[in-house]
Amino acid sequence: MDFSPLTRPATNLLDGVLDRALILGYSKLGSGLRRHWWPADAQPRAMLGKRVVVTGATAGIGLAMAQSFAGLGATVHLVGRDPQKVRQSAAAIRSSVTEAEVAEEVCDVSDLDAVRAWTADFANQVPALNGLVHNAGLMPTERTLTPQGHELQLATHVLGPHLMTERLLPLLRAAGGASVVFVSSGGMYGSPLVAGDLESRHGYSGLRVYARTKKMQVVLADSWARRLAGTDVRVESMHPGWVDTPGVAEYLPRFRMLTKPLLRDVADGADTAVWLVATRPASKPGHFWHDRAQRPTTFGWQRHDNPATVRRFLEQVSRLTGTSEAWTGLRA
Ligand SMILES: NC(=O)c1ccc[n+]([C@@H]2O[C@H](COP(=O)([O-])OP(=O)(O)OC[C@H]3O[C@@H](n4cnc5c(N)ncnc54)[C@H](OP(=O)(O)O)[C@@H]3O)[C@@H](O)[C@H]2O)c1
Repeated sequence: MDFSPLTRPATNLLDGVLDRALILGYSKLGSGLRRHWWPADAQPRAMLGKRVVVTGATAGIGLAMAQSFAGLGATVHLVGRDPQKVRQSAAAIRSSVTEAEVAEEVCDVSDLDAVRAWTADFANQVPALNGLVHNAGLMPTERTLTPQGHELQLATHVLGPHLMTERLLPLLRAAGGASVVFVSSGGMYGSPLVAGDLESRHGYSGLRVYARTKKMQVVLADSWARRLAGTDVRVESMHPGWVDTPGVAEYLPRFRMLTKPLLRDVADGADTAVWLVATRPASKPGHFWHDRAQRPTTFGWQRHDNPATVRRFLEQVSRLTGTSEAWTGLRA
């Protein structure tokens, strides 16, 4: 017997409480509880015959995502900037997943010329793309510039993924039902959308710019979703919770020390992005997910993004990447 209509109000309430109480919701306690009521898993071989690109697939959450996609039967393209790490990660997946279809791709997503070159090459090799997960991320303590002179977090989290999405759009549209997922962070709640000083020339702080660019990813995903609303390409953003990864060990050692027993494992961190691509659930504006449910993009006491600020932000992203400035009107 299905008791869900009776229990849903209680689980919805509990889920919302977990979401506001960060330690509960973002730690493994959150996913541990929610998996009792969250939507069903994808079918075991749901992605057979489908193709997915995962960026930053050489460590942490990205590597776990690639492994999960391979387990669901997808052909997975592992994108990393270090050829040796890409090779090792592909080998690790091949040895742990029977009949894994894994392709090794080298591209530094923060280098816009590299993104142009790699996407051109990729488009010559494959007919269609079902999933694109923008997972590559970092949080350098010093302001660092890319070959094109962009601040590194902006380029890695926002400019590179935007350019890659636009350039792979024909492949995504050719798939007959594709999903793009931006891996943001709960840290994005710590910043409003900032449309001035996008390159963080003034007062750089790794953590602050991380929150800013993670917020930008959520706004960008929502803008892409609106732009593609008339097509069969879905665009979402999500946050993985607090996950024990090499990145957390490198950038947040004290946080890791304090929270280690509560941190999620990488498969748990990868879960929602994989599930979004594999099941393509219906999604409302905001398009921001955590633990298989849509979450608010602002907390109650925060202001919603000002449409004029969003417009200014998008204009700059288009200009800095040399991409289309038409943010509406794409149709099937
Ligand atoms: N772990 C968490 O608790 C947490 C929480 C919220 C959000 N996130 C987000 O989840 C994503 C993955 O985080 P993680 O913790 O798994 O990080 P991680 O362990 O540091 O792994 C990051 C991956 O991204 C790659 N990468 C970085 N810059 C790249 C570039 N320019 N081009 C291509 N690949 C690049 C890294 O490759 P290299 O080895 O070559 O550097 C690595 O494979 C990030 O976007 C992060 O912001 C993580």
